[in-house]
Amino acid sequence: MLVQQTKVVDVLKSLFVPGLKKLLLSIGSLNEVRVNEGNVYINISLPEIPEEDANRLKEIITNKVKELGAESVDVKITFRKKQDIKYIIAIASGKGGVGKSTVSTNLAVALARLGKKVGIMDADIHGPDIPMMFGINERPMVNNEKRIIPIEKYGVKVISIGSLLDSDSTPVIWRGPLITKIIEQFYNDVEWGVLDFLIIDLPPGTGDASLTISQSLPTKYGIIVTTPQDVSVLDASKALSMFKQTNIEVIGVVENMSYFVCPSTGEKFEIFGSGGGERMQSEFGVKLLGKVPIEAKVREGGDTGMPMVLIEENTETKKEFVSIAKEVLESLEGN
Ligand SMILES: Nc1ncnc2c1ncn2[C@@H]1O[C@H](COP(=O)(O)OP(=O)(O)O)[C@@H](O)[C@H]1O
Ligand SMILES: [Mg+2]
Repeated sequence: MLVQQTKVVDVLKSLFVPGLKKLLLSIGSLNEVRVNEGNVYINISLPEIPEEDANRLKEIITNKVKELGAESVDVKITFRKKQDIKYIIAIASGKGGVGKSTVSTNLAVALARLGKKVGIMDADIHGPDIPMMFGINERPMVNNEKRIIPIEKYGVKVISIGSLLDSDSTPVIWRGPLITKIIEQFYNDVEWGVLDFLIIDLPPGTGDASLTISQSLPTKYGIIVTTPQDVSVLDASKALSMFKQTNIEVIGVVENMSYFVCPSTGEKFEIFGSGGGERMQSEFGVKLLGKVPIEAKVREGGDTGMPMVLIEENTETKKEFVSIAKEVLESLEGN
């Protein structure tokens, strides 16, 4: 009897994983379903589950697919390696252009300079700026186990959709489910190795990517980036409530573009107003991790792939980024 592939997929969609009250395809992914007349081959990857549960699952799948008329059913289950990552920190903001990627990049590099093992995941699928900020042009390779090897730069392991697309200039329209899939892959299928920190640069707002990192990834910590003015603080408070709703502990807020010091006169200008970070602290009880001034070198560094914390000169922004990294370490490890 001819077995329809779609029917097999429907069966798989309806199954629960033994030992867990979860649908098979909500925690696993279907790599392949091949039907060759009466012979069906199914390949699934799953997070690690006990062997007896895996065998039970194979049995259930085999029986159900045989009920569709299959003569033989071959089920292959591959277990995803568990990632060994101590702290996953998502960097969020209510809106774009406030310096999320700049803060993510400099925080990651500063933590690496402090001796930590660090990775960065660019989850801003629509505007992946991390490769540019790290000066990365090459594509990541895939190993024999079909796992993606992150690119290493400045002591940080980097993964971004920007390194996988053909051209920077082609606008990409990603639909929600695809964004979810990519971010899950960036976590599960990347050879991160042992990490102390995985920094996730989120897109602005509270969309699919933010939901995915809180629901499908074991993300426990968040940092919010804002600029000093009122609207930005209002936007940032939305990112804050998103974190709270998804049980992500907020380490603190970084106020970026806080002020500008005129290099020739030394006069201080508060270009985007003032007090945003302090307001987040007093109104919402979120710790102010630091205030980063506006400096032309930060933007130049971002465009040329040279993070501010690596330049020789000890500028205010460099000092502030390093101090923010130390604050983060202190909040998490108390040292
Ligand atoms: N403190 C700063 N001083 C000067 N330029 C900055 C600063 N922070 C960010 N920028 C620049 O502002 C622009 C937007 O920052 P970016 O990190 O890309 O924001 P987001 O990721 O929130 O959209 C970039 O060109 C970046 O180099
Ligand atoms: Mg960005």
